[in-house]
Amino acid sequence: MKLIASVLAILVSSLALENGLMRTPPMGWLAWERFRCNIDCKNDPHNCISEKLFMDMADRLATDGWRELGYVYVNIDDCWMAKQRDSAGQLIPDPERFPRGIKALADYVHARGLKLGIYADLGTHTCGGYPGTTFNRIEQDALTFAQWGVDMLKLDGCYSSACEQAEGYPRMSKALNATGRPIAYSCSWPAYRGGLPPQVNYTLLANVCNLWRNYDDIQDSWDSVLSIVEWFSANQDVLQPVAGPGHWNDPDMLIIGNFGLSYEQSLSQMALWTVMAAPLLMSTDLRTISESSQQILQNKLMIKINQDPLGIQGRRILQEKSRIEVFLRPLSHSASALVFFSRRTDMPYRYITSLAQLNFTQNAVYEAQDVYTGQIISGLKATNNFTVIINPSGVVMWYLYPTMYLHQPFSFVKQLSEA
Ligand code: GLA
Repeated sequence: MKLIASVLAILVSSLALENGLMRTPPMGWLAWERFRCNIDCKNDPHNCISEKLFMDMADRLATDGWRELGYVYVNIDDCWMAKQRDSAGQLIPDPERFPRGIKALADYVHARGLKLGIYADLGTHTCGGYPGTTFNRIEQDALTFAQWGVDMLKLDGCYSSACEQAEGYPRMSKALNATGRPIAYSCSWPAYRGGLPPQVNYTLLANVCNLWRNYDDIQDSWDSVLSIVEWFSANQDVLQPVAGPGHWNDPDMLIIGNFGLSYEQSLSQMALWTVMAAPLLMSTDLRTISESSQQILQNKLMIKINQDPLGIQGRRILQEKSRIEVFLRPLSHSASALVFFSRRTDMPYRYITSLAQLNFTQNAVYEAQDVYTGQIISGLKATNNFTVIINPSGVVMWYLYPTMYLHQPFSFVKQLSEA
């Protein structure tokens, strides 16, 4: 019996991702959505995938108040590599676009109190056609990234089969652990298998990866945001329970600050990602971002909610006929985040409800803080009706907490001692 137990313990421990990283969802910047595979540094030196782009973003993160709020990852995506490995079979960056190499870039990023993320693909090629991390290269590439001082790896899945993924993703997890350097691990595996059981085993994933892409790539449009929110909400019974400290669902990057979202839609993406306990990886040009987008992304209460230590992912709890949806995320200290989201396309909607209708206990008096306006609503009893005015494709978001309990909660201990 003892022997079986210890064999099992060894098996489980050799499977688990023991890096202790990402107890709250990661925050930072990721190149892909905004900068794609632009390698034309001759004509577009400012925006091409090059060390300059990542140094510029590191400067902005360190200077414009991002780092202090928790946005610390500077993440490279596809198209950083040279088209061939070197003579030792090692991955190398494109020498013209990264003349100083990745180690120097990592040093630059670290000197600013930030972390560097990199991208590879478990297949013959990356999605953009650069060298892949085939089976014979997994340990070698893990070691290369560790030697360069990389802090996070996104491992994509283009040009690999289901079988290769089932073996390769866990193997890279072990290989990263074996380097001795803490390297957070983002897996695109489920996105390549339809994102749902039985093809995807989320229990296994949570033991192997710190975060994982479940679904389609985000694009710079409201339609894309809506389809992601819909897929994650429709499948929340599967997805919500598997998220937690150290292992997160990833609905993909924040596109706030780009071209596809209105102001209201930007407020909505931020609120919905936060309620989903999603990674906050911005993909936008931090050199030219507008004041209003920056304010949304730097909202302190929003970030506090996103980073809540319990790490419980929220759920869509109501879909009204009026096309208002309500999302709820439980937070520490008996607090909650509530998001009232309008899918309407006409005009601001007066939504009337009560906390009792949203299943809050009638035993307490609550206070709510509007996350965007800062307005405080106090003395709210569960049975009191209230009205929120929600703009088309916008949200109202509340941070809600009990301030007083009306009756002592039923005490079992007291009952026993009186008996
Ligand atoms: C896939 C991924 C994207 C991005 C591109 C790069 O589509 O899902 O996030 O990394 O590849 O080519």
